[in-house]
Amino acid sequence: MTSPADNPTPSLSAGEEQLAQASTGLVDTETYIDPELVALCRESAADGTVLLRNDGTLPLRGGSRIALFGRVQIDYFSVGYGSGGDVNAPYSWNLLDALRDGGQVTVDGDLAASYTRWCAENPPDEGTWGNWPRYFEEMPLEGEAVRAAATRADVAIVVLGRAAGEARENTLTQGSYYLTDAEKSLLDAVTSAFTHTVVVLDCGNVIDLAWLDQYGEAISSVLYAWQGGMEGARAIADVLTGVQVPGGRLTDTIARSYADYPSAPNFGGLEHNDYAEDIYVGYRYFETFAPNAVLFPFGFGLGYSRLDVVATAYVNDEEVTVTARVSNVGTEHPGAEVVQVYVQAPDGELGMPARTLASFAKSRRLDPGESESLHLAFPIASLASYDDSGATGHRSAYVLEAGEYKVFAGTDVRAATQIASFTLSELRVVEQLTEACAPAAAHPFQRMILDRDDAGRAVVGWQDVPTREVSRRERLQARTVPVLEQTGSQAVTLADVAEGAATLDEFVAQLSHEDLEALTRGDAVMDSPLGTPGNAGVFGGITASLRAKGVPPITTTDGPSGIRLAAYAALLPCGAALASTWNTPLVRRLAAHHGEEMVRKGTHVLLSPGMNIHRDPLCGRNFEYFSEDPLVTGLIAAAVVAGVQEAGVAACPKHFACNNQETNRNLNDSRVSERALREIYLRGFQICLAQARPHTLMTSYNKINGAWSHYNDELCTTILREEWGFEGTVITDWWMQRAVDPDFPAVADDAYRVRAQVDVFMPGGWFDHVSGGFDTTAASSLLDSLARPDGITLGEVQRTARTVLQLVLALPALSEEIIRNSRERSLPFMSSARRERP
Ligand code: BGC
Repeated sequence: MTSPADNPTPSLSAGEEQLAQASTGLVDTETYIDPELVALCRESAADGTVLLRNDGTLPLRGGSRIALFGRVQIDYFSVGYGSGGDVNAPYSWNLLDALRDGGQVTVDGDLAASYTRWCAENPPDEGTWGNWPRYFEEMPLEGEAVRAAATRADVAIVVLGRAAGEARENTLTQGSYYLTDAEKSLLDAVTSAFTHTVVVLDCGNVIDLAWLDQYGEAISSVLYAWQGGMEGARAIADVLTGVQVPGGRLTDTIARSYADYPSAPNFGGLEHNDYAEDIYVGYRYFETFAPNAVLFPFGFGLGYSRLDVVATAYVNDEEVTVTARVSNVGTEHPGAEVVQVYVQAPDGELGMPARTLASFAKSRRLDPGESESLHLAFPIASLASYDDSGATGHRSAYVLEAGEYKVFAGTDVRAATQIASFTLSELRVVEQLTEACAPAAAHPFQRMILDRDDAGRAVVGWQDVPTREVSRRERLQARTVPVLEQTGSQAVTLADVAEGAATLDEFVAQLSHEDLEALTRGDAVMDSPLGTPGNAGVFGGITASLRAKGVPPITTTDGPSGIRLAAYAALLPCGAALASTWNTPLVRRLAAHHGEEMVRKGTHVLLSPGMNIHRDPLCGRNFEYFSEDPLVTGLIAAAVVAGVQEAGVAACPKHFACNNQETNRNLNDSRVSERALREIYLRGFQICLAQARPHTLMTSYNKINGAWSHYNDELCTTILREEWGFEGTVITDWWMQRAVDPDFPAVADDAYRVRAQVDVFMPGGWFDHVSGGFDTTAASSLLDSLARPDGITLGEVQRTARTVLQLVLALPALSEEIIRNSRERSLPFMSSARRERP
């Protein structure tokens, strides 16, 4: 097994330190944050909090005396590390202050004073890029001090925290996936002295929880708080004291041990990982093959009241509809429930997981005695599987195999009970596609399949993964891209196009090769002087020539947990917390206010949401991502995109695709069957794109079956554009690897990328391994290739230019600026926030 535990320095690859980003300083000191955004941060952090265990200790009774243990009560982890966490929040609550501020309970002063003093004397080491602390050392505490606290307080709360991040994987070590000895001693001492111990887990990813069984009833309640952003600790205080109910449900299975995860034998490889578990990711594996390995099932979470769900289903030829009546039958507390509908499709030739999430909906907060009816529906076609081997006789098609389809409903994957079934008498071909991104014949591996033993029980079987058959060269040669005859005119401005006085084709036809080339890359640096200070990079109007024609610079900023600028901005709950709400309307409202904040701060493209599948709990960026399940991932992402784009700016889902680990992320090859790629790793993107139409999309660093995502024409053209109809702008993740197209030697680097319709190289500028810096002036290989008869064609480059310009025209924030600038004849696009390049 290769895992980061075996490999002590896995996170940064050789040369990757040079690609590291600096943390963002502050030049704008305006601290105003929209109060509604603040309130939504607090509400959604509470709604994402998952109550895993409760013997009635929670919610804390008003006036309870609380002893708060663990230094994380002060040094609270509000978010993970890297671009997805580096937000200049004007403040961030910790749990000690939040509980005191809430005023519902009394926090033991002696203990709090000891922690406050000790934490001030032993401040946490902030670490450096990629080497941030995964945990903080605990304050040593004598048993006597704990026993003394137990004489003064009714309930103990132990707060434990973890963080990981970009280029910083979680590891199978104490202080990361496992508790430290000091944390165990703390739990031992506290559970021996107190009758009621509540554990709060302030973590961005799933950690080992096997110890919960060892403590048994000595731990009364367990709250998975995630990292809730600047209001996260206040949200947890609200949940602990019953001001809010814990609304979260797990979006990942929590297994008994790390080794139980099906990805474990193939995670953390430096050069490649075989996704041998295939489609059996998360609960799809556990419910099919290993139900006893589950500590907490996917979809699980408790509330403070008892909610009943009565569901019925109606099935016609095309669709399944479910009506679920949710009733709060408790007497004391309000509560909300997530109704989850799963399907078990027939095994057939392809083999299917015991459960697949087909739909979900969350009730509103119901008072005791209240009920609500939820209506869920999903097309039968959405249950189809992709035949990548031809086993059903329909290679490269989505098919519904003949047989019985069982429909289940309930409040988690394990609790869901059968409510209906329907039978297809014969196989249906839902969509005939063509092979794309299949594993290379040179890298075969065995993938997991469903087998049955003599008693009909599901057992793991293995088969050779189907490898690619199509010729990439022929596929590319068959594509013709029309060329616009270059006019050489300078008469048409982009404002003319925005106002309808000229067509976009007329504008593109007058662009020189240099103009066209400049539209395919960013301004070469982060914090570009052409954008709002602290930006992640700028593209679009990056040259004077383009700006003179009315093309504005487009500012990009991270994402996902807040806007990363040299200015204060709201720090939102992390992705895992948001997804755990299962509350798409709430996430959308939050994102809409976030979009408005983007407009106020002067940014156009938010590098968010992070959508990679939680393939393995050790992935350092799981806090940014949503779930092990593609439907949850896709629908939560769609809510983020729709909300952000309501404000007239763009969202940029990332990282497309299979960026499932941080270890050697720039060079790693994710080797995955075409079926698993489509059904698990691309599915969320497909759902998000269909529902919310993001204006932009970011590729991943890694390779997929041997081809870097940013050069991967089958990923970014065949699937993304030809099958899914995506018309937006595709940008790279920050910096790329140089490479020559294996099928077209005259096409390399930028030409290779533009041919794949990965439109913009961000932030632009190649890393120079000799000087150790970025070469921001390197001659473009795109122009070289354009000059060669067998190189990239003018039509291909114009196509990309067109796509980028369409983005400008689609964003009201930019198109209005273009028109205004043209009318006022002002110096184009040099608003006060922007600085002209020297
Ligand atoms: C990350 C992206 C991020 C970009 C810009 C990269 O290192 O992988 O998620 O958006 O930097 O900061």
